[in-house]
Amino acid sequence: MDDIVTVSGLGKRFASGFTALRSVDLSIRRGEILALLGPNGAGKTTLISSICGLTTPTSGEIRVGGHDVVHDYRKARALVGLVPQEINLEPFEKVINTVRFSRGLFGKPRNDAYIDEVLRKLSLSDKRESKVIELSGGMKRRVLIAKALSHEPRVLFLDEPTAGVDVELRKDMWRVVRALKDDGVTVILTTHYIEEAEEMADRIAVINDGEILLVEEKAALMRRMGQKQMIIELQEDVTEVPPALAGYDLHRNDDGDLVYTYDAKADRTGITRLLSDVAAAGLTLRDLQTRQSSLEDIFVGLVGKDPA
Ligand SMILES: Nc1ncnc2c1ncn2[C@@H]1O[C@H](COP(=O)(O)OP(=O)(O)OP(=O)(O)O)[C@@H](O)[C@H]1O
Ligand SMILES: [Mg+2]
Repeated sequence: MDDIVTVSGLGKRFASGFTALRSVDLSIRRGEILALLGPNGAGKTTLISSICGLTTPTSGEIRVGGHDVVHDYRKARALVGLVPQEINLEPFEKVINTVRFSRGLFGKPRNDAYIDEVLRKLSLSDKRESKVIELSGGMKRRVLIAKALSHEPRVLFLDEPTAGVDVELRKDMWRVVRALKDDGVTVILTTHYIEEAEEMADRIAVINDGEILLVEEKAALMRRMGQKQMIIELQEDVTEVPPALAGYDLHRNDDGDLVYTYDAKADRTGITRLLSDVAAAGLTLRDLQTRQSSLEDIFVGLVGKDPA
């Protein structure tokens, strides 16, 4: 699969002197759904704004469909749609005009059939003539999506599309995003809901403190989630994994316990052999615990805090 967006060595330092992005490298594959996870202030919105050409990078390069977002702004911008984190709609404008106007801003000829189709897909047809101010918060979010789709972008960025949205509407939103993917649109979404990333994403990227910590296939992450850890508490103090046990996927945690990571779904977990080798190495068990690692654990392990 080829890449529709490439970000290399992207840095962003604001006028205040604050560095929000540090040498970010990220490739987004054509047609994928990529979830960008990270705590508040991690740099998600700054990264998205930079790709959409709304924030000027301090260093590095961003290409969308091969076009440099700084030097070839118009061509790059025409390919992307952005659903911003903040609702920024004209309250007294009608839904249909809001969406039509947005298309016009990109210099696209009027196409009511396309706009009507977008409204239909977002279940907004019956709100076509309503003023924005008359809509509920969730409907306003849909209008934001309709606006972002008005110029037929190939890449859609959704910055927290389901923040403050009820479960029903969130599921609706997921349906919309899947339908977009089926139409060949590449989707990047930021979210604080880990289950949303689990549900939707082909790949998951984790950002913290302006750095990308991980980009991984969701399926691979799920396999990692299928892993379990066995914590082996010993009577003896060990300062490192004993050489006799070097063949196992073991590490020593801060409490001086040995932690064995294994695939709970495997035919052979290796536990029996490990425990007999622990005894053979002259070590005595004090206690044993097992735990399942989740995507949330992986996230917390990476960034040291909950997903905001
Ligand atoms: N215009 C600005 N001037 C100075 N600092 C800024 C500016 N915009 C953002 N920042 C800072 O950059 C960091 C990253 O902000 P950003 O909005 O990208 O985070 P985020 O990951 O989107 O967070 P959230 O989950 O809260 O939306 C934050 O510390 C923020 O305070
Ligand atoms: Mg943000």
